[in-house]
Amino acid sequence: MHLGVCYYPEHWPVERWPIDAEMMRTAGLDMVRIGEFAWSEMEPAEGHYQWAWLDQAIDVLAGVGLDIVLGTPTAAPPAWLTRKYPDIRRQEASGRYRDHGTRRHYCPNSPRYIDLSRKIVAALGARYGTDPRIIGWQIDNEFGGGKTARCYCDHCVQAFRSWLEKRYRSITALNAAWGNAFWSQTYQSWDQIRPPDDRIDKKNPSHVLDYYRFSTDSYAEYQQYQIDLLRELAPGHFLTTNFMGLYSDLDQFDLAAPYDFITWDNYPTGNRDRWGPALLPPDPGADPTEPVYAYDTGHPLITGMAHELTRALKQKPFWIMEQQPGHINWGKTNTGIRDGTVRLWTWQALAAGADTVVYFRWRPTRFAHEQYHAGLLTHHARPAVGYRDLLRLQAEREMLAQIAATPHTAQVALLFNYDDLWALQLQPHTRDFSYLRSHFAYFQALQQMGIPVQFVHGKDDFARFKLIIAPTAHLVDEALVNQLNEYVTAGGTVLLGVRSGFKTTSNLVTADVLPGFLRALVGAMVEEWQALPDGVGWKLEGAIPNLVGPANYWVETLRPESAETLIKYQDDTSALTVNRVGQGRVFYLGFYPNQEQMLALLNYLARQLNIQSIADLPPGMIAYARGPYTILMNFTDQPLVATVAGKEFSVSGRDVVVDIGEE
Ligand code: GAL
Repeated sequence: MHLGVCYYPEHWPVERWPIDAEMMRTAGLDMVRIGEFAWSEMEPAEGHYQWAWLDQAIDVLAGVGLDIVLGTPTAAPPAWLTRKYPDIRRQEASGRYRDHGTRRHYCPNSPRYIDLSRKIVAALGARYGTDPRIIGWQIDNEFGGGKTARCYCDHCVQAFRSWLEKRYRSITALNAAWGNAFWSQTYQSWDQIRPPDDRIDKKNPSHVLDYYRFSTDSYAEYQQYQIDLLRELAPGHFLTTNFMGLYSDLDQFDLAAPYDFITWDNYPTGNRDRWGPALLPPDPGADPTEPVYAYDTGHPLITGMAHELTRALKQKPFWIMEQQPGHINWGKTNTGIRDGTVRLWTWQALAAGADTVVYFRWRPTRFAHEQYHAGLLTHHARPAVGYRDLLRLQAEREMLAQIAATPHTAQVALLFNYDDLWALQLQPHTRDFSYLRSHFAYFQALQQMGIPVQFVHGKDDFARFKLIIAPTAHLVDEALVNQLNEYVTAGGTVLLGVRSGFKTTSNLVTADVLPGFLRALVGAMVEEWQALPDGVGWKLEGAIPNLVGPANYWVETLRPESAETLIKYQDDTSALTVNRVGQGRVFYLGFYPNQEQMLALLNYLARQLNIQSIADLPPGMIAYARGPYTILMNFTDQPLVATVAGKEFSVSGRDVVVDIGEE
């Protein structure tokens, strides 16, 4: 386990570097990330490299015993490059080009940019690839960050056509896959196709979904050039990149695949501002169970879900490559952070499966865009709140390292898929229907119940879970059906939610009786579906304790074939069914549950499947289990009491308590 910091030696006088390095060691840091935006310092003119400053920075930092992670600087092309080769610039859907003065203003499909990126990475690799003081590399920085996932320039037009040709082989197949008979959209040749930019109103969702997939593939291909070079030039070093948690404009599973492990940048107060609207109930106050979290912690379950999703990308421990160290500069209020909160975030990250936490950044910048972003020090180089918390964390390092080294286990999995997320984002059909929101609702309910959860996607092994929940398995192909079938036949349980099986993988509505490919597994037909306006509810009747009250928002009437009915609507049609398949069972929930209904259903399933809760938790407390350790974290300002295996634990506001039970 490492604790580290992001450092920008190019921002500070050389005389300051040794002082900073010593202070990092005093704070207990053992790792430092450098270089990821320093292209113009590394190559001030095309083909002229300048390494003396970087050599010296590495000497100074490694000299006090810090391990080094080097960033490739391609997220920030220098001015000479952008001016000399303006065709590398990213073009937005509006037609406007991004320009020098920001970052991420490049197009991943620009042959020139690919070539120039390879040159700087090859030069870096040649110089530092065998340096034992460097432990690994971060490729680029936050692919897609700052809303840059999709580019619409002429290079992308060409690349998109080739991508489509490879995928569909014939224009007839593409026309069929997209349903181009609609509004005379039929193409006669590949060169008639363009990206779905802002010139197109009422876009075809199949066209757009493919553009989203193409954009992920574009970055996957772009990063691979760098990965290939460094695998060759830096054979003993790990390769990773930094993602953004619940950021969903690119498919993080695909991008994560070639790396040794993955990292994400965790800014808890910003996470709530950024993802809260897509995750929390749309009407403020709509969730009466939401606790009052301390003002400076962010929302622990929003942060928690991002940790879970990141761990799922490679089903192994991850890093926090950038951890908020104090206030940030890009949220709605950028609240100040008090002593104790950075420690709490560090504990949460490690408990959730990170094995390294790197703080962003060492000292706040005096210039440019991030002047108001905190560091571990203050602007005038005194210890700030994060630094003080690091000193406190030193006494806990051993326990943290043991926890980080203990595998994470869960009996319940949530199926996650970016294609489904995008398809529903493109056609929510009713107000605020969001894939992320329904996942969050299940995640939140399970966390409240003290039940650990693991995100999975189609390529994972399902067999180790007792229950797999797919809140909406929207785009379904035979591979998924077979995988679920195998899992259920062998004794697994699946819970499917509304709008499952509705679409094909090219984003057309299935022509089969709903739920399409899933019908045999579900053992029931979805006869009708509808979104309900606010205030309208269908009464539910059945024998599951507390699963009562009206069904609101989205309802589907089911007709059982081989399945049994567990809950009915008032008109006697089925609302929840269960079907036996081999040794296992498939539940289909035909309405969108509110929080109480979801808790009732999950309690019922947990009892039936003997799924263990790790703790009895009051609102505001969250818990993680790692082997014998139960980690209790209080995200409120009041002391709270939790019960673990019959024992009560009191946890002060914004504090952590670890129970070391029997394994
Ligand atoms: C991240 C980015 C960093 C820095 C930080 C500020 O998204 O990778 O370079 O800008 O945000 O919070």
